[in-house]
Amino acid sequence: MTDVDRTRLQTLAAAETARFLDAHPRSRALHNRALRSLPGGVPMHWMTKWPGPFPVFVESARGARFRDVDGLEYVDLCLGDTGAMTGHGPQPTLEAVRRQLERGITHMLPTEDAAEAAELLAERFGLPSWQFTLSATDANRFAIRLARAMTRRPRILVFDYCYHGTVDETFATLRDDGTVAPRRGNIGPAVDPAVTTRVVEFNDVDALERELAAGDVAAVLAEPALTNVGIVLPDPGFHDALRDLTRRTGTLLILDETHTLCAGPGGYTGEHGLRPDMVVVGKAIGGGIPSGAYGLSAELAGRLETLTTLEDIDVGGIGGTLAGNALSLAAIRATLRDVLTPGAYATMRPLAERWTAGVERVIEAHDLPWHVTRLGTRAEYHFLTAPPRNGREAAAATDFELERYLHLAMLNRGVLLTPFHNMALMSPATTATDVDCHTAAFEEAVAALVNA
Ligand SMILES: Cc1ncc(COP(=O)(O)O)c(C=O)c1O
Repeated sequence: MTDVDRTRLQTLAAAETARFLDAHPRSRALHNRALRSLPGGVPMHWMTKWPGPFPVFVESARGARFRDVDGLEYVDLCLGDTGAMTGHGPQPTLEAVRRQLERGITHMLPTEDAAEAAELLAERFGLPSWQFTLSATDANRFAIRLARAMTRRPRILVFDYCYHGTVDETFATLRDDGTVAPRRGNIGPAVDPAVTTRVVEFNDVDALERELAAGDVAAVLAEPALTNVGIVLPDPGFHDALRDLTRRTGTLLILDETHTLCAGPGGYTGEHGLRPDMVVVGKAIGGGIPSGAYGLSAELAGRLETLTTLEDIDVGGIGGTLAGNALSLAAIRATLRDVLTPGAYATMRPLAERWTAGVERVIEAHDLPWHVTRLGTRAEYHFLTAPPRNGREAAAATDFELERYLHLAMLNRGVLLTPFHNMALMSPATTATDVDCHTAAFEEAVAALVNA
């Protein structure tokens, strides 16, 4: 199998950087100006993680493409890391948002859209009761609080290398000796996550059974398939075991479908008939307008009433002034009803298959020890010969230097990948031409790397 020559990689990366600098004088000027008032020249420090010496500044985005301030157009396979999985500015969402802008953005009162948005989510995920937030992070935080209150247990359990937003309890990982440690890069943890969290490897049913047996876990918080360390799919039977063990130990099961909404209109839960106690969603459900939601089983919804009194309902640690605002509910209703439809998935899935086949062809042609995994409308390559079975295996195969070269080479050829890993996401507006554009760019970048 072909190995990557590091010297060659560095030479190519330098050439791509020079090409990038040459093509982006306006972005560079804006970045230099922004450096005076924004740390790293960006409104949120994550945005420094793009490949290249500075991020491209966006002039406009529409459908599956965007244009930068230097007049260059890109195929967007990152789609705001799922926030714009609908494509940028889907018409039904835009119309609903425009209408609502004229009728009040936020008034801390319900609108008719709220009930329909909840009904649409209930239909898709099989849970009857819903609450709305501004982000998936908030939805996860509130779901965890509810789980603690309802079970009167202190801990949560997550899978190694999970990501559920900026939720303190989830920034935990496993050391080699099996003890829990703060995840690398964890900034200012409130308490040692070992106090709040148990961690097991994804697909490890024995470890799950052992950790739940302690009887102190309020909830397992899990993506149905890991998507944030590349895609790691569940083994056959894993979800049955997870549900069975959580039920037997009185532990609640929260499935975070924020990314796995790529599996189908009702996420992985809907596609595979899973029966969680709670579901969390966010990002794409508002077509890009800040939105999140969590759904509860009938039993949990009934218990909600007993948790607090009317007098204290606004100070319990669950809520937010702008949560459930009229604008995001209008966006969610329109997006679920008219954009992320079963028909849209029928368009997006074959495109993800096409992307996967294109990348596989290039990998095989160059005999590279890499592998592609797909989940519905999302696909991703790992620098591994076989699909990873857990987060640890997937994380061990990360190659930051190689990723940055490939991402920058894609960007220089008009394709944007998500900066955090090698993921491509399809939107209803993505076309076969867009996908083929990536395949051609990938072929060129890989050929340059391996053909001495
Ligand atoms: C599975 C999952 N849950 C929750 C979140 C948090 O979403 P947000 O940052 O929009 O709150 C993310 C973000 O990537 C995610 O991947």
